[in-house]
Amino acid sequence: MTNPSKPPSPPSSDALASSVGRTPFFAYSKEGLSSSADQALSFPNPYGLTVRYAMKACPTLSILKLFHSKGIKIDASSVHEVERALRAGYDYEDISLSTQELSEEFKGLVEKGVKLNCCSLNQLRAYGEAFKGKKGFKCGIRINPGVGSGGFSKSTTGFSKTNVGGPTSSFGIWVGSFTDGSIQQIIEKYGIEVERIHTHIGSGSDPEIWKSVAVKSLEFAEYFDTVTSLNLGGGYKVGRNPGEVSTDLQECGGTVKTAFEDFEKKTGRKIKLEIEPGTFLTANNGALVTRVQDIVETSDYKFYKLDAGMTDILRPSLYGAIHPCTVLPTSGADREKEEVVIVGHCCESGDLMTPLPGDPEALGKREVTKAEIGDYCVIDGSGAYCSAMNTKNYNSFPEAAEVMVWEGGGEVIRKRQTVEQQWENEI
Ligand code: LLP
Repeated sequence: MTNPSKPPSPPSSDALASSVGRTPFFAYSKEGLSSSADQALSFPNPYGLTVRYAMKACPTLSILKLFHSKGIKIDASSVHEVERALRAGYDYEDISLSTQELSEEFKGLVEKGVKLNCCSLNQLRAYGEAFKGKKGFKCGIRINPGVGSGGFSKSTTGFSKTNVGGPTSSFGIWVGSFTDGSIQQIIEKYGIEVERIHTHIGSGSDPEIWKSVAVKSLEFAEYFDTVTSLNLGGGYKVGRNPGEVSTDLQECGGTVKTAFEDFEKKTGRKIKLEIEPGTFLTANNGALVTRVQDIVETSDYKFYKLDAGMTDILRPSLYGAIHPCTVLPTSGADREKEEVVIVGHCCESGDLMTPLPGDPEALGKREVTKAEIGDYCVIDGSGAYCSAMNTKNYNSFPEAAEVMVWEGGGEVIRKRQTVEQQWENEI
């Protein structure tokens, strides 16, 4: 008999592992995703808000469908992501596309309603050529406002250890193109109507920077009186580890809101706000469930080897990102803690789950519950850019399965890839 005062708990790791066949697998929390969506949708704004999910963070169809049901729109970064969003039930009009490609397909998509944000002068020219002579074709432009901010040099928009963002970034149309008139020339030549200004300064941005980015980006809206919305991108900080603080969206939105109101006082124009978080919506709503499959000791280190690795979570090896790792003993009484280095299953010294913070080149010791072979090790903060950035079969490891869990239930939303699927396109 169930105890009515106790809420039903999500299925156990054992039950989930047997439903997908084996570890590793990603587990996402339905309630968590839904609550993060609600928080994003309450971002303060004076004249209207659109929240777009930066689907590059985790494009699994079930997750897209969940956000669709909440009224969240889509930010796609390639025409392939557009196809995926359509497959999940989105309409063309729900999708904006900020892509680094200069592909031919964009014309057909724009004609069907996808909102293209041109990310370079060449993209803008191509857009102008494609719609030459057609009145009423609108587009957005992604600007590089000259500042960047982010958790790691590689996730700040602009890549350099000493000078992050701005001139070191290839993303967006450089501020200088406004002051030297080159952007205006293209717009006038083709009669393009600029409807949206877009910017994204990096992932894991400092909360203090948002107002200045809004003010700076609104200055670009002054160049075109056709602009009706400003998209400030994603990048809201998420604390994955104890002591790390997440961006308070109410506070951040409050400062941004003031910038829009000041702009209205100055110009008489009411500009709508768009935001496109990826990390904020998913990062702490997903975990990778793995098992410790070997324990190895040297004179200096004790290593736990997982049955997952950089093939599933690349962030520690790429950025030196820190994800919480929790050992869940499958048997035995209270266990002590010990300091170990946790590594992945690839034949690659860089396949590290516990680097030194920010330094993917150095081993970091982590204190965890003492493990035995076969115990679970759960890697938290894995809902964003983990399954999405898997290394696609390095060492021929299959892509992990994914499950959605909720209070009282769970279901497989993506099966583990089979080894046959890995070679089916090979001739
Ligand atoms: N909008 C644009 C145009 C973007 O390029 C991105 C991320 C986002 C929105 C979403 O940013 P978020 O809210 O997720 O910070 N792989 C890295 C981050 C690089 C993301 C690139 N663009 C990571 O693992 O943290």
